[in-house]
Amino acid sequence: IDISTLRTVTSGITTLDAGFKNTSSCKSAITFLDGEKGILRYRGYSIEELAEKSEFLEVAYLLIFGELPTKEQNAKFHSDIQKTALVDEDVKKILDGFPKSAHPMGVLSALTSALTAFNPKSVNVDSEEDMYRAIVKILGKFPVLVAWAYRKEEGLPLSYGDNSLGYVENFLKMMFELPNEKYKMNQTVVKALNKLLILHADHEQNCSTSTVRIAGSSHAGLFASISAGISALWGPLHGGANQAVIEMLEEIKEDGGGYQKYIEKAKDKNDPFRLMGFGHRVYKNFDPRANIIKVSAEEVLNDLGIDDPVLDIARGLAKEALSDEYFKSRNLYPNVDFYSGIIYRALGIPVPMFTAMFALGRLPGWIAQWKEMRIKKEPISRPRQLYIGATLRPFVEESKR
Ligand code: ACO
Repeated sequence: IDISTLRTVTSGITTLDAGFKNTSSCKSAITFLDGEKGILRYRGYSIEELAEKSEFLEVAYLLIFGELPTKEQNAKFHSDIQKTALVDEDVKKILDGFPKSAHPMGVLSALTSALTAFNPKSVNVDSEEDMYRAIVKILGKFPVLVAWAYRKEEGLPLSYGDNSLGYVENFLKMMFELPNEKYKMNQTVVKALNKLLILHADHEQNCSTSTVRIAGSSHAGLFASISAGISALWGPLHGGANQAVIEMLEEIKEDGGGYQKYIEKAKDKNDPFRLMGFGHRVYKNFDPRANIIKVSAEEVLNDLGIDDPVLDIARGLAKEALSDEYFKSRNLYPNVDFYSGIIYRALGIPVPMFTAMFALGRLPGWIAQWKEMRIKKEPISRPRQLYIGATLRPFVEESKR
């Protein structure tokens, strides 16, 4: 039902749908998702095929511009992004102002918003060229900010990229100053990270993407809108879940590895504890990304020769929960974040950085959705409410309260 038509015709019907569980906020041609059947497609291409055959930047192009790029388009896109991959030195001063204990997502959100001050023209996106310029700028600068947020958190000196490298390799170089004694550029790692970023690249109108579209609908700039999305992604019920999953698995490990107790806790309605990485607002049978990433996690650990007891706990916990009536009856399955943290751990990425990695992956989706919203000239997002507060009351003087 087109609610806007319904409202006009009947003059004044509004719907109440807390959490927008059954409300479409827009028409979109970017990502198709069938939660019942576990289908996810970007611009018509299946996530399974893209994760297997494509590269992250190619998928970014697909999401943002609607088609897979030709070789020439891909090369130009890559080179345009590389040309913008420098961040103003003064942004470092802002970074310096953060305490080392600051969460990388807070740092990332602030620095992304701050980019507007250093690129004021990025706000005016009236022409296609202006829009393109803003898009390649954020794609170029964002990995630098993510790497800097990591190096700040680790107390390491800031790093610079190497334009001869691919997008994912360059990001790893900036993170770890590769090659170094501790960490070499490993193709298994590059492949796994490429896959993870593709799997996270878009997920239609999720909480952070809706935030980007809503903020952008006021014609706030792209960088400010993305910054709002980063803040929304931060929470443990959304992007923060990957951090919460590993923290939960580590807690179980330290508690002796008995996951049964935690399954019982999750089932107890008097206990606020939830099994992190279980359940999804839209996928009600399985998360197709989880199936792909589960295999990838096993590959990475095997290739890198890592024996991670946390993965054993994850395997056992998932098996047990999947056969439990509570989880079965509510269609609660492991989601992508149940396994992504295991890969990030294997790559040597610290837990507080997990959600920032998710943000790096989601960036093309945020951009694509923002661009679609602007090109279609969507109206400012402004939901209504059902007011349930007090009726008119006379003001009470302070002495009488
Ligand atoms: N552990 C235990 N019980 C759960 C869990 C869980 N992880 N998730 C849902 N339930 C239960 C609820 O208690 C509720 O039970 P009830 O019907 O007896 O009241 C039922 O399942 C339905 O749950 P809702 O909260 O209504 O489902 P909703 O669609 O609103 O929430 C969400 C989805 C937020 C993902 C939820 O499943 C959750 O909190 N999961 C854990 C956090 C998580 O992994 N988030 C990552 C999401 S994926 C992503 O952002 C990439």
